Amino acid sequence: MSLLIKDGRVIDPATKLDDICDVFIENNKVMKIGKDLKIDVDRVIDASGHLVMPGLIDLHVHLRDPGFTYKEDIATGSRAAAKGGFTTIVAMPNTKPPIDSSDRVNYVTVKAKKLSPVHVLQTGCVTKGMKGEEPADIRGMAKAGIAAITEDGKSVMNTRVYKDAMILARQCHLPVFAHCEDKNLVQGGCMNEDEISRAWHLPGITNAVEDVIVARDIILADEVGVPLHLCHCSTKNCYYMVKAAKEAGMQVTAEVCPHHFTLSSDDMKEGDTNYKMNPPLRTREDLEYLRKGLNEDVFDIISTDHAPHSAEEKEQGMEDAPFGIVGLETSVALTITELVKPGVITWMQMAEKMSYRPARVIRQDKKGSIAEGMDADITIIDPEAEYVIDTSTFVSKGKNTPFHGKKVTGRVSYTICDGKVVYSQSEESDADLQ
Ligand code: DOR
Ligand code: ZN
Repeated sequence: MSLLIKDGRVIDPATKLDDICDVFIENNKVMKIGKDLKIDVDRVIDASGHLVMPGLIDLHVHLRDPGFTYKEDIATGSRAAAKGGFTTIVAMPNTKPPIDSSDRVNYVTVKAKKLSPVHVLQTGCVTKGMKGEEPADIRGMAKAGIAAITEDGKSVMNTRVYKDAMILARQCHLPVFAHCEDKNLVQGGCMNEDEISRAWHLPGITNAVEDVIVARDIILADEVGVPLHLCHCSTKNCYYMVKAAKEAGMQVTAEVCPHHFTLSSDDMKEGDTNYKMNPPLRTREDLEYLRKGLNEDVFDIISTDHAPHSAEEKEQGMEDAPFGIVGLETSVALTITELVKPGVITWMQMAEKMSYRPARVIRQDKKGSIAEGMDADITIIDPEAEYVIDTSTFVSKGKNTPFHGKKVTGRVSYTICDGKVVYSQSEESDADLQ
């Protein structure tokens, strides 16, 4: 299968190319980039007026298989990813049972190979059964091909156990993805601790719940010498700590999720659990620091923390509903609407934060760039399309998002994975009409 993507604005973070070009793809590889390429191909895509970016990579996705497939499964989650413009997704291990052994890693990767239109990489737990008591079989899982270790959903509170696991990760050349939350400080909190939580008489989560573990994890990972990736950063002090760590030359990367750079706690609607996620929506001041950090590349990665839950679960009220919102099908639009259009980040930074840098974190050397010889994973985006987010169009089983009804600009037109079109917006609309 050969493909020619014509007249798009090609953005390549690796070579800093930002120009109207044609891209020729064959045998799952980018073969040539240039102006007015005249090549006989199986298919031509007219990308004029569109952005052509390296395939987007989401480092933080909950696919919920095994154990919670009523929330999401590998087929629905990966199709939602393709629709959202992602060609590689990294699945979190907080499933039932948790992914803490090579057999369980193989279960997901084998199933994903059969069912997923995009690349699915699995992460492994830091500790056995996610119990926080002893390191999981990190060597075995490394052999089975995990992308990282993480206890996402909670922190490993025993620092000694965490350090031992970090040493194993370093020996296996794996990064550690950190969900930063001091279990002993949370005390049943279900939203940010501020005047709004007090007015609603709801238990709050302070910034220190996150910040004290961010500090610990940066120091611990640096001492061990393992690359640390901070998940879903949400606070002002997180900005300062990541900035300082980077200035000191530490191996730290940090992600921000679209909900945290779009909404603050004062946007919440009382009783609406679609605004409940972990970490919670913080204050306007925190949000401004996230945007500042994204602008300055202190925060180098945007990932979704796609966390599908069933409607029944989310109907349980603010204190009892599970934390989390879906993100795969809204991330591109929110990034463009909230960051690129207002000038917080450039298109090049968007491609860096959603593709190039995530690829570096998981050491996917042939991804994150559209240069000749790279994998043919490409996302084509219409930067001017305006529409209203509508959960009834979601492929994901999860409809839990506070963004239903939000007017946005920017839409994925095509997702190309391994040289094949795995999502086409126009073909999807044609199918709707039939
Ligand atoms: O909001 C969240 N949901 N944050 C997490 O850390 C875990 C996730 C989930 O698994 O639902
Ligand atoms: Zn998390």
